[in-house]
Amino acid sequence: MLVFGHEILDKANKENYGVGAFNFVNFEMLNAIFTAANIAKSPIFVQASEGAIKYMGADIAVSMVQTLSQRYPHIPVSLHLDHGTSFQSCKDAIEAGFSSVMIDASHYDFDKNLEMTSQVVEMAHARGVSVEAELGRLMGIEDNISVDEKDAVLVNPQEAKVFVEKSKVDFLAPAIGTSHGAFKFKGEPKLDFERLKEVKALTKIPLVLHGASAIPDYVRESFIESGGELGNSKGVPFSFLQEAVRGGINKVNTDTDLRIAFMAEVRKVANNDRSQFDLRKFFAPAQEAMVKVIVERMELLGSSNKI
Ligand code: G3H
Ligand code: 13P
Ligand code: ZN
Repeated sequence: MLVFGHEILDKANKENYGVGAFNFVNFEMLNAIFTAANIAKSPIFVQASEGAIKYMGADIAVSMVQTLSQRYPHIPVSLHLDHGTSFQSCKDAIEAGFSSVMIDASHYDFDKNLEMTSQVVEMAHARGVSVEAELGRLMGIEDNISVDEKDAVLVNPQEAKVFVEKSKVDFLAPAIGTSHGAFKFKGEPKLDFERLKEVKALTKIPLVLHGASAIPDYVRESFIESGGELGNSKGVPFSFLQEAVRGGINKVNTDTDLRIAFMAEVRKVANNDRSQFDLRKFFAPAQEAMVKVIVERMELLGSSNKI
């Protein structure tokens, strides 16, 4: 059933588990996410970036989600705009049928971020739709980074408290050292869990971890075996994801893991059967690989068997 974002995350917050927010850019990815949620009996966020919406069309994205949520009526699903860059983008998504939006004004100063977020909150809440905002910048932190440098990049817990109180935002993504993509850490993985716990204690609302792909070893190996290159890729270790959930994270944004798992299978079919051009022969195993990654992630985050 398609629900507002807070209907999923308020429960996760109360019961201390994480819900995967999985990005999709086509039917195959979306179908794999729903299939996994059905296997794991887990609530889900399915999310589309502005780029993904441009690629699919907002109307198509919404109707695919509506149709799949009718097929699986027992799965609570929220359709979320990922990294909305403007009021208009959030409004368009809501008018198209999205049930949750992110306004990402984190690259502006605090006051401008607060102003933009508050405007989106007012418009979205009038329609029942939940809003996510971000504080701090998504960037890896090194061991040798100074306290000042860390403070410049990562979320400031006191600011987070004021931001949440004033904007009335539903969910907050605090920067604690993750980044998007396959290359998250130059040295040893490091996240600022103390900062996360402070933000949670001061805000008490559902928190969001961006850049949460783990790049499990078998997924990395499968991609490389298929002929793909991943250089020195490094994701967020499983133990960190669990610690993040213990520290107050309830929405866990995951895209890169899905892309890598999916494309490894596509490339394998392309390599192994060079005369193959039936799309289904590529996309069926690609979806299966994605389902495996997602079911495992739901188990790890604690959202399995929550419906
Ligand atoms: O956080 C960004 C997501 O991974 C989506 O990325 O803008 O390439 O669709 P995209
Ligand atoms: P990853 O690149 O780690 O999958 O992060 C995705 C994300 O944060 C989407 O908003
Ligand atoms: Zn993100």
